[in-house]
Amino acid sequence: MKGKGIVLFFVLPLVFGQEKTYTWDAPGQTLAPDPINPCLTDQDSCGCCVMQRKKWQLEEYLNSSMNSLEDSLARAQNTLRNIRENRVAFSVGLTDRRRCIGPARTAINVVYQSIFINIGEAYNSSTGVFTVPRSGVYNLAFTVFSDAGSPGASLSVCTSIRRNGVALAALREMYDQDQEDQATAVLLAQLRVGDRITISLHTGCWLCDDQNHYNTFSGFLLYAAE
Ligand SMILES: *[C@@H]1O[C@H](CO)[C@@H](O)[C@H](O)[C@H]1NC(C)=O
Ligand SMILES: *[C@@H]1O[C@H](CO)[C@@H](O)[C@H](O)[C@H]1NC(C)=O
Repeated sequence: MKGKGIVLFFVLPLVFGQEKTYTWDAPGQTLAPDPINPCLTDQDSCGCCVMQRKKWQLEEYLNSSMNSLEDSLARAQNTLRNIRENRVAFSVGLTDRRRCIGPARTAINVVYQSIFINIGEAYNSSTGVFTVPRSGVYNLAFTVFSDAGSPGASLSVCTSIRRNGVALAALREMYDQDQEDQATAVLLAQLRVGDRITISLHTGCWLCDDQNHYNTFSGFLLYAAE
């Protein structure tokens, strides 16, 4: 018993020492197993390999579907943000109480003080100026009204809508047969960022209004420029 123990003691280090270079030539396996692609070295693992390949393909498909969905979502969110940021719409009335402005010795800007809507805050109610916040096609409209004060008195409603001081369209009514008059102009205009749109009341003319808002000025962005 004592003798065998001694023999083992000497043999074991010999076995462990050889382990690194030892290869076992089993049938069908002459190469060391490849942990990445066992199919190359081990036929038996091919079934598993096919499943692995399918799993990778599925994963690749899911990844690319996911990526394209994320791209589409990002584009949609971007478009939505652009639409939200580019909303421009204002509509204002002249006054909330009975009041006439004019006649003036020189043309003046009409300052509409009753705000119905001012999305984008591009209309300034202390100056009466709509400053174009974003280039594009705008729909603009204004309605003017005046009251001669008494039958037979002369009426002078004469205004124009101006872009940087230059008239785009005008309304004119000078008459003495009729105590009241009202007129409207609607137009589309290609405007550039920073353009100043005003309603100008011409020399010698006047407008009257009260809480009924007979005089209005409105505009909105129809199409933003690219
Ligand atoms: C799929 O995406 C995940 C996470 O980005 C990544 O870890 C994995 O390697 C990808 N798979 C394939 C097959 O591209
Ligand atoms: C309106 O215009 C006046 C005069 O230019 C300016 O002081 C004021 O800040 C403007 N208001 C807004 C809301 O931009």
